[in-house]
Amino acid sequence: MFAVTAARIDADNPLSGLELGERPEPVPPDGWVAVTVKATALNHHDVWSLRGVGISADRLPIVLGCDAAGTDPEGNEVIVHAVIGDLDAGDGDETLDPRRSLLSERYDGTFAEQVCVPRRNLVAKPAALSFAEAACLPTAYLTAYKMLFEKSGVQPGATLLVQGAGGGVATALILLGRAAGYRVWATSRSEAKRERALELGADQAFPAGARLPERVDAVMETVGHATWAHSVRSVRPGGRIVICGATSGEAPPAELTRIFFNQLTVTGSTMGTRAELARLAGFCEQTGARPVIDRALPLTQARDGFRAMIAGDLFGKIVFTV
Ligand SMILES: NC(=O)c1ccc[n+]([C@@H]2O[C@H](COP(=O)([O-])OP(=O)(O)OC[C@H]3O[C@@H](n4cnc5c(N)ncnc54)[C@H](OP(=O)(O)O)[C@@H]3O)[C@@H](O)[C@H]2O)c1
Repeated sequence: MFAVTAARIDADNPLSGLELGERPEPVPPDGWVAVTVKATALNHHDVWSLRGVGISADRLPIVLGCDAAGTDPEGNEVIVHAVIGDLDAGDGDETLDPRRSLLSERYDGTFAEQVCVPRRNLVAKPAALSFAEAACLPTAYLTAYKMLFEKSGVQPGATLLVQGAGGGVATALILLGRAAGYRVWATSRSEAKRERALELGADQAFPAGARLPERVDAVMETVGHATWAHSVRSVRPGGRIVICGATSGEAPPAELTRIFFNQLTVTGSTMGTRAELARLAGFCEQTGARPVIDRALPLTQARDGFRAMIAGDLFGKIVFTV
């Protein structure tokens, strides 16, 4: 079958380890099923893997990709949950299993004609969502869903700041936050992306680092070093910063004085459970919210998608069709 793999790790030139070509058809172990992939979506995680973050060289070659929508062996339309974990080990939450992994970390991922997953990792795809839309949900949209509805600690009507408006998680935060009734403010380095954020439903959009009209109730952080100081200054006393990623660097000055003096809460967030993925699919179906797709390319042109993501030249999700 055709697949896109990480063959080598190169922290400085991630594309040099990307290979496109034939791989053996996977054989599902007991309790697992092979899903025929119709669409899959690119995440920054795939770039991190090529750079050697979160994966070691002894796992290579490995098929990249966390997200997929397709059909199960019985022909049902399904969305693939990307977290491979033990519910008991996580006390009922597979994302808290200390040994949990995402597809493409320990097991082959979704950038292929077929992907094998435990049967419990399949969620019914609502007919109202296309395969391309459904393929955006398992990583970026699920992460945004949990950040908003489980981790933010604030209710609809509150003001949220989304840093780095153009990214996959950031656009998901704007779209889902707006659909749920939050007042969403966004920042971006790019004026064009700020305009797109407003079209998507952001209430206001600001240049990166701009002083805001007032402090917000919670900040949604995916950018890391480049926006951290602004996040700490932009949240009201007692407010919260939810962080799921650090694209621009993971070690900014911690700003400890502001954090204790303003009694801020900083909380990490990673992915979500299978049950949350099913609720997210229902949320999209009920509200009419649909993932923002920057572009859809055939999987055979995956290299172009990686290039765009590394350059930050995107607004929303890059989808690969199979
Ligand atoms: N914990 C989890 O479960 C989880 C799940 C998904 C993603 N993540 C992480 O979250 C991060 C975002 O993922 P993604 O897939 O949404 O990535 P992406 O689509 O590549 O988004 C990157 C965003 O970062 C901003 N950005 C990048 N470099 C910047 C810089 N130097 N200064 C300011 N802004 C910068 C860009 O904003 P503008 O161009 O608009 O300014 C862009 O919106 C990644 O680090 C990823 O690994 C974690």
